[in-house]
Amino acid sequence: MKKDLRKAIIAGNWKMNKTPNETKELIAQMKPLVQTNGCEVLLCVPFVDLCPALKTAEGSNIKIGAENCHFEKSGAFTGEISADMLKEMGVEYVIIGHSERRQYFGETDETVNKRATAAINAGLKAIICVGETLTQREQGITSELISMQTKIALLGLSEEQLKNVVIAYEPVWAIGTGKTATAEEAEEVCAHIRNVVKGLYGEKAANALTIQYGGSMNAKNAAELLSKEDIDGGLIGGASLKAEDFSVIVKAAANG
Ligand code: 13P
Repeated sequence: MKKDLRKAIIAGNWKMNKTPNETKELIAQMKPLVQTNGCEVLLCVPFVDLCPALKTAEGSNIKIGAENCHFEKSGAFTGEISADMLKEMGVEYVIIGHSERRQYFGETDETVNKRATAAINAGLKAIICVGETLTQREQGITSELISMQTKIALLGLSEEQLKNVVIAYEPVWAIGTGKTATAEEAEEVCAHIRNVVKGLYGEKAANALTIQYGGSMNAKNAAELLSKEDIDGGLIGGASLKAEDFSVIVKAAANG
């Protein structure tokens, strides 16, 4: 199976939740529950939680990521965080272009491309998010939109750089709504993303790319979603804030 060619990654996206002290508590709770060699386990946390998260996760299989980074190396960008700053802290991954950043903070396909490029050039791995709104799905333009988001996000990145990219398919209508895409709907779009990447970089690179699904993934529906050929992991919001639920999803990926 082609799925064996790539690593499964279960990543939490904590969004704007948990203070530094709460971070320490939750990661300490998770540590014994998510031990596995069967998949990568990652928690993407708010900037101020990175330090306590890295410290608490030390010696465990939990990797730590950020939720955003700026595209410039340094300079007069008040309130922003650069990829180099994250790298120096020991952060391994960064989420780029989450739909909430697109919706509330003016993120565009072009800035997603710039941020992903900056992250990879700094030695980070970029989890690039793509996904359609409900209106776009109803208009029947999901595949065109996903192709466009994917192609623009990857613009200028080499095949070598693609090894540090993960793509997360997150239908906007499924985020935080409790409305998950069916496993078939999610698989269809994830397979489409792989096809787009195949067109850009060839079959070998496309087969090696980890593609996650995100949007109301939880302890109940994870196993079915993760059983699909082109779904290599999950980007999990709400359920990543509960140690038990998150560990069930990790186990589903590890056994799948
Ligand atoms: P929920 O799992 O809360 O729907 O959030 C998904 C998400 O946005 C992960 O990045």
